[in-house]
Amino acid sequence: MDNVTVFTHPLIQHKISILRDKKTGTNEFRALIEEIAMLMGFEACMTPMIAGKKMAVVPILRAGLGMVNGILALVPSAKVGHIGLYRDEVTHEPHEYYCKLPSPIEQRTIVVTDPMLATGGSAVAAVDFIKQYGGKHIKFMAIIAAPEGLKRLHEAHPDIQIYVGHLDRELNENAYICPGLGDAGDRIFGTK
Ligand code: PRP
Ligand code: URA
Repeated sequence: MDNVTVFTHPLIQHKISILRDKKTGTNEFRALIEEIAMLMGFEACMTPMIAGKKMAVVPILRAGLGMVNGILALVPSAKVGHIGLYRDEVTHEPHEYYCKLPSPIEQRTIVVTDPMLATGGSAVAAVDFIKQYGGKHIKFMAIIAAPEGLKRLHEAHPDIQIYVGHLDRELNENAYICPGLGDAGDRIFGTK
């Protein structure tokens, strides 16, 4: 697929395999999410850095927050926006509850972060919002994606660059990624 990068670097794959382990606790999980975001960021943030473009990192709340510091370690001058979305547990449809983006958004390269790209509903909605607010140069970074979500995001927004740490097998009947890593937000923040 055009505009889609699926990482194969052994260091990224090794760290993702530790994320999947149920025995990996909150502290280590959080650190790994940040490290993987930084490693992926070397590729995803290369063009804006070289071109000297202003950047905005936009995490999808909550789980996307876990990736922000990894990107900021590479691009400390980046501004940070936030998009609040939660997935309805029954319909799996995303609902927006917050959106605040740095201006002028149309002049920035926007890196949207979310560790999980499952059905793709949240990612498509987030990019829809960013475009409505005037965003033009958009990249999307997910640590784990399901084929269904990757296809849906790419088809809905063929103009954006998508970076995926690992492409997993499928979604289960609850629209969770298999094998996946469980609920990313709960594992980063220690909630249940
Ligand atoms: C998770 C995840 C994504 C979304 C992915 O968030 O962080 O945002 O689900 O699913 P989708 O591709 O099917 O939309 P969740 O809604 O659980 O919210 P949280 O981060 O606040 O826990
Ligand atoms: N959200 C998660 O956190 N994990 C999944 O597998 C799917 C959605």
